Amino acid sequence: MQLKPLMTEYQQRVEQCMAHFLPAPHIQPQRLHEAMRYTVLGGGKRVRPLLVYLTGKALDIQADYLDAPACAVELIHAYSLVHDDLPCMDDDDLRRGKPTCHVVYGEAMATLVGDGLQTLAFQVLAKHNHANIPAEQRLRMLDILSMASGSRGMVGGQVIDMEAVGQSLNLTELENMHIHKTGALICASVKLGALACETALDNSIFEKLGHYAKCIGLAFQVQDDILDIEADTDTLGKPQGADQALNKPTYPSLLGLSGAKQMAGDLLEQALSSLDGLGSQADPLRWLASYIVTRGY
Ligand code: IPE
Ligand code: IPE
Ligand code: MG
Ligand code: MG
Ligand code: MG
Repeated sequence: MQLKPLMTEYQQRVEQCMAHFLPAPHIQPQRLHEAMRYTVLGGGKRVRPLLVYLTGKALDIQADYLDAPACAVELIHAYSLVHDDLPCMDDDDLRRGKPTCHVVYGEAMATLVGDGLQTLAFQVLAKHNHANIPAEQRLRMLDILSMASGSRGMVGGQVIDMEAVGQSLNLTELENMHIHKTGALICASVKLGALACETALDNSIFEKLGHYAKCIGLAFQVQDDILDIEADTDTLGKPQGADQALNKPTYPSLLGLSGAKQMAGDLLEQALSSLDGLGSQADPLRWLASYIVTRGY
């Protein structure tokens, strides 16, 4: 077994589930629902849902228990990209190889698309009744997702990013920014996958997975910063060189490209050692960690 076929399987699965959860395009207000579907469907690596499914797989949890949390994290992520690309934020006009939401639907609609996607994420997690996850565990999942997405997680990280433009951050400050803006949701994906079962999980395994997630969450953004320099716009599906154009502090700007790569490699090793003792069922999580630091887009 390898990562590629698993990726394809779960990418298709989460795509279908999200297509089901998103309001149909004929439901009023039609243009809003059309824009939400434009934004979410047909593109993206789906790394966060993959983390939900692969964590579940490592713990023997059935895939239909994982659909709601997988969709919820991806909906939050999709909303964050719509807002991240707005003219008042990074002002990008290309995302996943397509014109960004505000380019097609206008700024006001794109803002509301983000709002609609964010609330849909919590609705999916609260309401989806396919599986027998106890209410107490669902509440914990809602708590984890809201914390990771909000002002003390991703939104907070975006604010640090916004205020850091043109400033020179030190390594600790940069790490703090990345852990919040990208790491928090990646950590939540792993935790949600681990909680999507009928019985509570052994705490020591939960902690190992949490450490794995923290390392790959940071590594993911380090690689995103590297790709902003090394990849090209066609491959990335978003504008290459956007960080430099906005004078953003990044790992390559602080450590140089080779320093940033070294850092990503160190984080991969730490992530892998966190999974020691988890057995071969956790292999797909190991493969995904390697993919995150070697990916080309
Ligand atoms: C891009 O995320 C934004 C970051 C947090 C770095 P992804 O690289 O996961 O984007 P998609 O979902 O594959 O388009
Ligand atoms: C975005 O980080 C993180 C989010 C919370 C959306 P970036 O601004 O680096 O993401 P890209 O490079 O535009 O995808
Ligand atoms: Mg940004
Ligand atoms: Mg951006
Ligand atoms: Mg980036």
